[in-house]
Amino acid sequence: MLEPARPPLADHFTQVFRQEHRGLRDGLLELSDAFTARDLPRIRQVLHAVAAASGPHFRYEEESLYPGLTRIFGWEYVGKLLTDHDRVITAARRLVALAEQSELTPAEAVEAVRLVRSILPHVSDCDGLSIMVERFSESHIRAVLESREMAIGDGHDLFTWADRLRPRAA
Ligand SMILES: [Fe+2]
Ligand SMILES: [Fe+2]
Repeated sequence: MLEPARPPLADHFTQVFRQEHRGLRDGLLELSDAFTARDLPRIRQVLHAVAAASGPHFRYEEESLYPGLTRIFGWEYVGKLLTDHDRVITAARRLVALAEQSELTPAEAVEAVRLVRSILPHVSDCDGLSIMVERFSESHIRAVLESREMAIGDGHDLFTWADRLRPRAA
């Protein structure tokens, strides 16, 4: 079979995108371990890192990547991706509320692990989108990468972005 044609930037995008999802995956798995251990200082530290990394990631996905995918998937599936983000933001807010307590009960730790697990499938689902990004034009992929750079440069964490910039309420 012939090697399918794809824009030169597509492989770069896929690598960058995969690397970001690896970071989020590892952060979430560590967060789950920290909640299981009811280790509040570690929970707060990892939660802070995950919120910092996911803010720019979600932002450029919603500002440039997901809208471009409507041409391939239509609005319905892209709507599902946005709803996934709503759920992640809501779950993350609850995790922060739990992390701010002076201690955690075993039941709260179980609740937190369940919440972290509810976030994880979006990480793997989202990473699969890069197979569709290969069908974007070179200039379109460049635009997505530029919006990524801008989002990283602005550096808003998940909650700051969701509260102040995101057009959609979670
Ligand atoms: Fe993603
Ligand atoms: Fe996403």
